Amino acid sequence: MNDQAEMLRKIVNMKSENQQAVQPMTGSEKIARVITVTSGKGGVGKTNITVNLALALSRRGLKVAILDADFGLANIDVLFGIIPKYTLLDLIHDEKNIFEILTDGPDNIKFLSGGSGVEELIRLDKKKLRKFVNSISLLDKLFDVILIDTGAGLSQNVMSFIMAADEVLLVTTPEPTAITDAYALVKMVSRRDKKKPINIIVNKADSVKEAEEIANKLCVVSQKFLSLRLLKLGYILYDDNVTKSVKIQRPFSLYNPKCQAAKSIAEIALKLFSQKPSEEMSGAKGFISKLLSYFGV
Ligand SMILES: Nc1ncnc2c1ncn2[C@@H]1O[C@H](COP(=O)(O)OP(=O)(O)OP(=O)(O)O)[C@@H](O)[C@H]1O
Ligand SMILES: [Mg+2]
Repeated sequence: MNDQAEMLRKIVNMKSENQQAVQPMTGSEKIARVITVTSGKGGVGKTNITVNLALALSRRGLKVAILDADFGLANIDVLFGIIPKYTLLDLIHDEKNIFEILTDGPDNIKFLSGGSGVEELIRLDKKKLRKFVNSISLLDKLFDVILIDTGAGLSQNVMSFIMAADEVLLVTTPEPTAITDAYALVKMVSRRDKKKPINIIVNKADSVKEAEEIANKLCVVSQKFLSLRLLKLGYILYDDNVTKSVKIQRPFSLYNPKCQAAKSIAEIALKLFSQKPSEEMSGAKGFISKLLSYFGV
């Protein structure tokens, strides 16, 4: 048996400490829960939330990976202060395998830099593409949760990541522009799939009351005008610890585990963790197949 197969066997046999909730299956096969983190407006806190949510889920015993799909401005690595050696491009061009392109983050989490990856896929021949899909499908065996950090906005690229994932985590702030852009995004999703599970997080709020009012408003209008049910996942108040932690390139939940933002992200992780995964989930394998079809590959 070669090294790679041996490593995979070991990882597959290695059970998470707590697999109960975030452990979807298709038939008898374990699959990962694939969640795209997105927003209408930029700068609302997606990357900070992705990183710290990954850490909080990992602390609950789940195996977590982050895919940095903000192609132009990848910054998961910046928040970790870790420079990845390889990106998705190295996998696409068959120079490295899936194990080699996963970078170690803190607390056992792994992250994968997208590079300009997805666009390159269009140029691949069938054989290489099949190999690529098989490699990505391995992530179902390796991880319980895959969080995908996207760029902001309603571009075709970001929409493809949203529609291909099993679930969406939509971040907004109390700014009116962020709220309208979040609603515009929900509207676009509702045109394509009214059943897509969309979780809402209100970030940088001044008070719990403000955060709750915004989440409620978004839920009510989405239900009334789009017949789409949003799920309120939680809120994070404006917290100086976040900006300070970004400056020293350390996730806020490690920089100050007792800060308000860290406590809120732990609550959000708990809520996400206790949701019953939908039976329609298709995991990393389903995700990559759908994504490629949206990209016309
Ligand atoms: N709860 C918070 N309290 C205070 N500042 C915050 C909070 N959340 C995020 N920020 C600040 O907001 C800025 C943007 O955060 P982040 O990079 O995570 O947003 P983003 O949505 O990923 O942005 P982009 O759309 O550019 O990818 C950062 O400077 C961060 O420090
Ligand atoms: Mg970002």
